[in-house]
Amino acid sequence: MFKTRITELFNIDYPIIGGAMHLLSRAELVAAISNAGGLGILASTTFENPEDLRKEIQKTRKLTKKPFGVNLNLFPAMRPRPVEKDIDLFIDEGIEIVESSGTSPEPYVPRLKEAGIKLIHKVAGVRYAKTAERIGCDAVSIVGFECGGHPGLDDVTTLILVPETVDAVKIPVCAGGGICDSRSFLAALSLGAEGVVMGTRFVATRECDVHPKIKEWIVNAKDSDTLLIGKPFKLASRVIKNKPALTAQEMEAKGASLEEVLPIISGQLGKKAWETGDVDAGILTLGMAVGRIGKVLTVKEVIDEIINGAKQILERLKRH
Ligand SMILES: Cc1cc2nc3c(=O)[nH]c(=O)nc-3n(C[C@H](O)[C@H](O)[C@H](O)COP(=O)(O)O)c2cc1C
Repeated sequence: MFKTRITELFNIDYPIIGGAMHLLSRAELVAAISNAGGLGILASTTFENPEDLRKEIQKTRKLTKKPFGVNLNLFPAMRPRPVEKDIDLFIDEGIEIVESSGTSPEPYVPRLKEAGIKLIHKVAGVRYAKTAERIGCDAVSIVGFECGGHPGLDDVTTLILVPETVDAVKIPVCAGGGICDSRSFLAALSLGAEGVVMGTRFVATRECDVHPKIKEWIVNAKDSDTLLIGKPFKLASRVIKNKPALTAQEMEAKGASLEEVLPIISGQLGKKAWETGDVDAGILTLGMAVGRIGKVLTVKEVIDEIINGAKQILERLKRH
């Protein structure tokens, strides 16, 4: 059940992708997602030294025999090294699946294709999904306003973006932004998606290596406990409503420049927050799904609940 072109393309049991999460999508979490039947994606930007990325790929391979992917982060501000260097490394390590995000992967598609790599590009607007199809991506993920990481600048929700994207392209579409359980998974498939991409839900799992206080914060969070920063600088980020986020929001409202806001939103402070559990130490990106997560589970429990719960919903709907 739930076999789609996405499960076929990536040779996975369930159409559930663990979207790359900078600093968090490391070997243990990625392998756990793949072992549970989904597709884990390593976040390559976490590793400033390419040899550390190589080691993490090798470690992941030791922890799972199932397919997994690596993220090619094309947000210029987030790149620790030239894109080509990562692609060399992916090819050298025999990576078979790449999730790209940020600017268009067009310049890199020929090389990835030549190496037999399957490419899923993540976008936050329908027009970018059309570009992904035109330039030869095998699949596309579309993420809505609710998502952790970077939603688009137009504030359009997942419920609207997914069917629009499905109607606009022929390649398989994965839906992201607010998907966290069987109900939202099945809703995404009902909208025409052939898979889902989830980030926030996987942070509150046993295998995610962040401080337990962060997971506790998520369990207690409300749906309104995130906000958007960065829109004036044309890169929106959904982050938790903590002290630095409120300060950044206030500065942006007063017309502060990126240079002025940068010290508050620095990645180093965010890293400290994930590691120490001091939620006010830095900016932490998470999606609105924080309001719908009530328990820290294992990755397998999350994925089993999605699949078994979705089957039960279908049974219930049939009886109506
Ligand atoms: C903590 C965190 C870090 C993320 N880092 C990245 C990243 O480095 N690259 C990327 O393409 N997406 C990143 N994302 C986005 C996710 O891959 C995924 O698209 C998103 O979380 C889906 O929405 P959801 O959070 O509502 O599930 C991140 C998301 C979170 C929550």
